[in-house]
Amino acid sequence: MSTEPESLPFAAYQNEIYVAGVGGARPAIPLTPSGLEQRASELLSPEAFGYVAGGAGTEATVAANRAALDRRQLIPRHLRGVASRSLETELLGTRLPAPVLMAPIGAIGIVHTDGELGIAAAARATGVPFILSTVSSNPMETVATAAGEVARWFQLYWPRDREVCRSLVQRAEASGYGAIVLTVDTFQLAWRPRDLEHGFLPFLHGDGIANYLTDPVFRSQLPVPPEEDPRPAIAHWAEVFANPTLTWSDLPFLREITSLPIVLKGIQHPDDARRALDAGVDGIVVSNHGGRQVDGAIGSLDALPTVVDAVGGDIPILFDGGIRSGSDALKAIALGARAVLIGRPYAYALGIGGSEALTDFLRGFLAELEITIGLCGLQRPSEATPELLTA
Ligand SMILES: Cc1cc2nc3c(=O)[nH]c(=O)nc-3n(C[C@H](O)[C@H](O)[C@H](O)COP(=O)(O)O)c2cc1C
Repeated sequence: MSTEPESLPFAAYQNEIYVAGVGGARPAIPLTPSGLEQRASELLSPEAFGYVAGGAGTEATVAANRAALDRRQLIPRHLRGVASRSLETELLGTRLPAPVLMAPIGAIGIVHTDGELGIAAAARATGVPFILSTVSSNPMETVATAAGEVARWFQLYWPRDREVCRSLVQRAEASGYGAIVLTVDTFQLAWRPRDLEHGFLPFLHGDGIANYLTDPVFRSQLPVPPEEDPRPAIAHWAEVFANPTLTWSDLPFLREITSLPIVLKGIQHPDDARRALDAGVDGIVVSNHGGRQVDGAIGSLDALPTVVDAVGGDIPILFDGGIRSGSDALKAIALGARAVLIGRPYAYALGIGGSEALTDFLRGFLAELEITIGLCGLQRPSEATPELLTA
């Protein structure tokens, strides 16, 4: 059995940290999920922290996401020869270094001035792809340039205006985004008490609307250019952003305007998963938007097995909602997710120390995943099955 250090490329970070402890630099962030959130709460403005940490209503679904993960426990297997491991994962025709992506997080410029440029730099440093939100703080082309060759996808909030929709999607395709992730659970913002108490919505302050302000179709609909007066642009953004009229019958339009794979994000019900499959989508993200939309909704991990059953392996299923550690990722993978999206924790890391802190966070996450997979008796994520978990 091979024991070369290269066989555990991510876990090597653990040794780096221990050695640094005897004289070098240690990670720039707290490494426990609660410590990370606590540090972010100390450093960010109350409005920015509330926006990231908060959820819909009583935040019962934020809690349900965690409870669903905590309820299931890993049952390690031993004496299986796991010196060599690989986290490499194939997803929509791309080989990823690990089954981990950064979830779309809108208006991330409110946590750090680098915004998505910091995300792109950390993605380059680690190979972890990111999904750029429609409501990003930097224009998608600028972020694409910063990302270089690293894999990235574009998350779409389908605007009310089809021509703006077409333009956003085609810009994403032209600037090298590898898939369109259509978020279906946010055609209207939920009742979010923390933001309401602060009277804070980043977009109305002009943060998170860069893709619209740089869009030729959107701009052509404005009475004056946003550089002259941003107010009509912000008002128009509020008119076009959300689209509660969407139905399954709109999906062929998206198929028509792009040759990229289409992934639906926000699926929780098996019937919707079957519908998505019938509609010919290329992937699904089981997600409840981090408990930010329907308060009292099912914990996302509890929805995963039924969606996996409904889809029957025909298209890859991704998962998010409460992922805080490598062990959490392994649990979702064992239940049938091909990969997981990290949400809030990476926003906290970026907020604490920009792309360097985010890189440290991602390296730690990948190290923990690689270590935990081995400690559970596996060499690669694809070997994980529901038998790895308590019911
Ligand atoms: C501050 C914040 C902004 C978000 N913005 C978007 C977005 O623009 N588009 C989207 O599809 N999901 C968005 N999400 C949802 C995430 O992509 C992801 O589904 C969620 O964060 C996962 O839950 P977790 O953070 O608890 O792990 C956002 C989440 C947060 C916390």
